[in-house]
Amino acid sequence: MKKRILILMMAVSLLSSMYASATSLKVKTKTEVEAESTVGVECEADTEKDVAVEEPASEENGFAIVINGNTEDFSTSVFDETHYVPLRTVFEKAGARVYFRNRDHQILILTRDGDMVRHVVGTNTISVNGMAKSFSKPSVSEQFTTYLPVDMLAAAFRAGAVTVENQQITVHTPIPNTDCGKAVNDVLYTGMYSTFNPEKFQRYINYHIKNPGYSMNGVVFTVNIGLDLPFYENVSVIVNPYDPLVLVNKYNRLPSNFRPHNLVQMNRNYTSGGKEYLMEKTAYDSFVRMVDAARKEGISMRAVSTYRTEDYQKRLYDKKVRTTGQRNADNYSARPGFSEHQTGLAVDINSTSASFENSKAFRWLQKHAHEYGFIMRYPKGQTWITGYAYEPWHYRYVGVKVAGEMYCQGLNYEQYYAQYIVGNEFK
Ligand code: DAL
Ligand code: ZN
Repeated sequence: MKKRILILMMAVSLLSSMYASATSLKVKTKTEVEAESTVGVECEADTEKDVAVEEPASEENGFAIVINGNTEDFSTSVFDETHYVPLRTVFEKAGARVYFRNRDHQILILTRDGDMVRHVVGTNTISVNGMAKSFSKPSVSEQFTTYLPVDMLAAAFRAGAVTVENQQITVHTPIPNTDCGKAVNDVLYTGMYSTFNPEKFQRYINYHIKNPGYSMNGVVFTVNIGLDLPFYENVSVIVNPYDPLVLVNKYNRLPSNFRPHNLVQMNRNYTSGGKEYLMEKTAYDSFVRMVDAARKEGISMRAVSTYRTEDYQKRLYDKKVRTTGQRNADNYSARPGFSEHQTGLAVDINSTSASFENSKAFRWLQKHAHEYGFIMRYPKGQTWITGYAYEPWHYRYVGVKVAGEMYCQGLNYEQYYAQYIVGNEFK
């Protein structure tokens, strides 16, 4: 067993700046300490202004870390009378997965018990499944390693899983041999795939338990789309509503009364009955090119519905509910704030009747819409994913690159979005 204990005595001012800026507990290797021959004298090269004192070589003063019966070979560090341990090493040895988000220095840990632990480096708080606890000392980081005070470490595990006594930190984390324990392990294993989002840990576990026949890839994909939750529950307000690839559906609504920046008046040659419709400019330019190309082949196309305000969508939806009932209305009409027509990027072409499927225009669109950056947004048989019945007339502009990829891979937009667009910032 190898134990190295360094006592680092730093000026009080450094301690407070360390707390504020989440930096710099200078943990030195034994060799570095040996090289510093004069105790208490600042080394020229030592810009941190800390002073390292090697503990007299007494094993009794150190801490061993024992995880599931194995004594692990890494240092603890004592600073300001508190024992610190390297966070990632301890958790990974205990079978957990550790993720880091650069934006806010947040660490997210998924444990073998199915718990989600969060901590922001440099703070004195840790949260386990949303329950936060505070401690007297913050964590500190040094050269990409985060050190946790031992009491904070203990709080991250379930009660009794960590004991600190007789100079020994003992972590007992046997893998639970239950259905849930098995699901947790499957999910943690799947965590190596790129579309795995650690923020959805508990949802993957729940969905995996409910659907034992699904592959784990299927579980991750389904939960990433959101299909483990009913439509219109757990709705998120879209944070990037101006993004040309914005996903608007029954899980993601536009901010209240959202209006796109660059709506343009459509030339009446492209609208049904010469009506005055608006469309987002890029989508409109492409729509014009598409319609012109179809017309050259003798196929006529006009927009029958394009940009809609939230108020207008409300009137349409309410009328549909009044005339056909809520269930049917929800199949064909978005609730106000949830329609992609409000982005100015959607267009209904020629007619909104099922017979449109039998028209030349529809057949032409099937072959060519993607060449102009449009996709049929609500394909047949995919209501369970898109939330809407088959709408052969409703097209959405996503640009030529995305439309082409969707066409080649046979994906609908929810599937494409979950696979290629939605990000996972935790690495
Ligand atoms: N018909 C589509 C779903 C809408 O109302 O936006
Ligand atoms: Zn539509």
